[in-house]
Amino acid sequence: MVQNMTDAAMAARSNAYAPYSGFLVGAALKGESGIIYTGCNVENASYSMGICAERNAVFQAVAAGERRFRTLAIAGGRNDEEAKLVPCVPCGACLQVLSEFCGPDFPILLADGVHKLGEFLPHQFILD
Ligand code: THU
Repeated sequence: MVQNMTDAAMAARSNAYAPYSGFLVGAALKGESGIIYTGCNVENASYSMGICAERNAVFQAVAAGERRFRTLAIAGGRNDEEAKLVPCVPCGACLQVLSEFCGPDFPILLADGVHKLGEFLPHQFILD
């Protein structure tokens, strides 16, 4: 299971469009249905218009009708070796988006093992 998810994140990473940073990221998000949704980072000449791999994967899943998730794997780096060995922690924006659908115990698989969403984002913004 772990290897499947890592492989899916690495495969998604191969489609990353990152000509400005050179940092390629892939994410694989498994829904409760068992379907794996993937995303890569897509940069833009107008820098802030780019999107991270993780949010791309979440939006793909939600657009397909899935909102409950089992796990997320992320692979990021300037080359394949870095992506396999160095953990790529999701940015704050992606953590906030994940927290819309996933609780603090949601497992996030990085190059150094399994983490929890609550470890990276102990407090999310909540709109009361
Ligand atoms: N990036 C991601 O896709 N996910 C992360 O978790 C961190 C950063 C992307 C954004 C940008 O295209 C590139 O990596 C460098 O910041």
